[in-house]
Amino acid sequence: MKMILFSRVLTLLFGSHILLLLICGMSNGTDTDIYCLRSIKDSLEDPYNYLNSWDFNNKTEGLICRFVGVECWHPNENRVLNLRLSKMGLKGQFPSGIENCTSLTGLDLSSNQLSGSIPTNISKLLKFVTSLDLSSNRLSGEIPVSLANCSYLNSLKLDHNLLTGQIPLQLGLLSRISTFSVANNNLSGPVPTFQKCSNFSR
Ligand SMILES: *[C@@H]1O[C@H](CO)[C@@H](O)[C@H](O)[C@H]1NC(C)=O
Ligand SMILES: *[C@@H]1O[C@H](CO)[C@@H](O)[C@H](O)[C@H]1NC(C)=O
Ligand SMILES: *[C@@H]1O[C@H](CO)[C@@H](O)[C@H](O)[C@H]1NC(C)=O
Ligand SMILES: *[C@@H]1O[C@H](CO)[C@@H](O)[C@H](O)[C@H]1NC(C)=O
Ligand SMILES: *[C@@H]1O[C@H](CO)[C@@H](O)[C@H](O)[C@H]1NC(C)=O
Repeated sequence: MKMILFSRVLTLLFGSHILLLLICGMSNGTDTDIYCLRSIKDSLEDPYNYLNSWDFNNKTEGLICRFVGVECWHPNENRVLNLRLSKMGLKGQFPSGIENCTSLTGLDLSSNQLSGSIPTNISKLLKFVTSLDLSSNRLSGEIPVSLANCSYLNSLKLDHNLLTGQIPLQLGLLSRISTFSVANNNLSGPVPTFQKCSNFSR
């Protein structure tokens, strides 16, 4: 509502193109977050039905903010801030539908049964994430180099998986990292040196 009011003021100043742009931008934001959660639910196996409360039939603005594990920027706006889906017994691959939660800053999928590899383009899926916890799953393959492009990361937990290969030394470029854990995998080689590192465990 504030945006609309604001855009009306702008309209007076600059004409109607801006109004259209702003309103389109807004409704897109909402729809894509719903699309995001829907595709995550569809792509994961949920043997204990934790995600049953994710009912997409009711289109009330802000309804997804009351779904289990979903935290929004504002309680009445369908824009996901954090997703906490830990210890739910979820199975399947890393849900790439997450790319449509475009305002996400935190993702916790720890202590589930996720398998397969971490997507190589993860930095494109999680552009603004500050906290990523994929620990205690069954993820295999290598740690993607592109994680080094998630430049807002301050906490990265990948411990207790089946990851192999070397830890990308580029991760040392993450200037905000304060928590980094990759213990209990099958990794080899040197460990990156972080500029700022208070809570480090291999
Ligand atoms: C949608 O949810 C809102 C809030 O819980 C409720 O007031 C409304 O009746 C629901 N609408 C439908 C069509 O179920
Ligand atoms: C993201 O949303 C767009 C359109 O809303 C869709 O075409 C695309 O497949 C979605 N991405 C994923 C990974 O689901
Ligand atoms: C990420 O990679 C997957 C499969 O490799 C692809 O389907 C998807 O479109 C890619 N997403 C982006 C945002 O690049
Ligand atoms: C990471 O960022 C670098 C420099 O901006 C870019 O060249 C590279 O393509 C990016 N990689 C991925 C996987 O996004
Ligand atoms: C760990 O990796 C090595 C080679 O990199 C392989 O020989 C070994 O079988 C792996 N161990 C497990 C438990 O996956």
